[in-house]
Amino acid sequence: MSHQQSVPPRPALVQLQLHGDALASAQQRAAQLPRLGIDRNMVLDVEKLANGTFSPLTGFMGSADYHSVLNDVRLAAGTPWSIPIILQCAPEKARGLSAGMEVLLWNEAEDIPSAILTLSEVHSIDLLEQARKVYGTEDSAHPGVKRMLSLGTCCLAGGIALLAHSKSLIPAAYDQDPSAVRAEIDRRGFRTVTGFQTRNLGHKAHEHLQKVGLELTDGLLIHPLIGWKKAGDMLPEIILEGYEILIENYYPREKVMLAGLTTAMRYAGPREALFHAIIRRNFGCTHFIVGRDHAGVGNYYEKYAGHRIFDRFTAVELGITPLRLHGPCYCSRCDEIVTEQICPHGPAAWRDISGTEVRAMIARGEEPPATIMRPEIARFLIAKGRSGAVFFEER
Ligand code: ADX
Repeated sequence: MSHQQSVPPRPALVQLQLHGDALASAQQRAAQLPRLGIDRNMVLDVEKLANGTFSPLTGFMGSADYHSVLNDVRLAAGTPWSIPIILQCAPEKARGLSAGMEVLLWNEAEDIPSAILTLSEVHSIDLLEQARKVYGTEDSAHPGVKRMLSLGTCCLAGGIALLAHSKSLIPAAYDQDPSAVRAEIDRRGFRTVTGFQTRNLGHKAHEHLQKVGLELTDGLLIHPLIGWKKAGDMLPEIILEGYEILIENYYPREKVMLAGLTTAMRYAGPREALFHAIIRRNFGCTHFIVGRDHAGVGNYYEKYAGHRIFDRFTAVELGITPLRLHGPCYCSRCDEIVTEQICPHGPAAWRDISGTEVRAMIARGEEPPATIMRPEIARFLIAKGRSGAVFFEER
């Protein structure tokens, strides 16, 4: 039974995938168009535009939306939006391209077509301004900034029409688009659903946050991000397989959905927290968990900057309610997971549960203690570590 009474109407999902005759004629036209090769991350973003993950966007941003997002955390029309969705390339690649032209976006990794872009504008951007305003730092050691700086100063804006899907990064059962997840929510009869973003397999702090969500809403969508991540984050198959074990043993199965979100991590801290919430709204969630240092990396963001960005918006205009939760930790005196909201014992008794520490233990082949990680998961990670890779490696 849900505690929350008012549920905002679901926004319409943008659909930019061509089918039938429209697809056949676009495929024919595509053969004559100028080609622009795009990498795997960009292909994923094209597909997220096409399946409505990025609704209400219908294409790559032009300069008006871009600057509005950078300066006001809104699209030019006023809709909340925090992360630029732009098609960056080196200026020489855009030579000869101008507004009104169609361009074939080519999936370089698989050597197949991806989509037709109808160019509305070619604009250039100041990469360091973007670094400062979106990531809060110009430091090229920040993994999101580093990647963004490598992508070029020219942006091709315009609507897209999807021609072909890339090979999925995950098993089909987890590769669900927003309409499939919405349909599953309806099939299960959930009126309210909490979305949980993660880039790692759950430890006990994650579990606590998720179960607070389950206490408040009818269902839980565990929605790990699958896509480009920095070295040291967990591999997709490890996260998904591990979550199956966790859910099987410790969650009410019928209330939990597990699916992957295939897009790159940006590590943009608070702005990415808002972005992650908007995406989960599009997947049908009514609530979204924002914990400690959401989408953060290193010490670039304050612990609860991800909570505060939501103060600028109402849940009605966002279409989703943020659940701003404080960092769970293990308390040696309570002998359980607590938060600073509910436990009086203070830092001397609290043991922080950090993904970094868990990672280091696994890498050493050491089992994280049951106080911070379920033994089934600890054993699973150790076994996986012995027979292969668990984490992304530097490329
Ligand atoms: S994230 O990049 O997806 O945010 P992660 O998978 O570590 O990374 O975290 C998923 C969610 O759990 C985020 O909302 C994050 O704020 C929260 N979280 C992760 N670890 C902790 C922790 N130890 N204490 C509190 N919240 C946490």
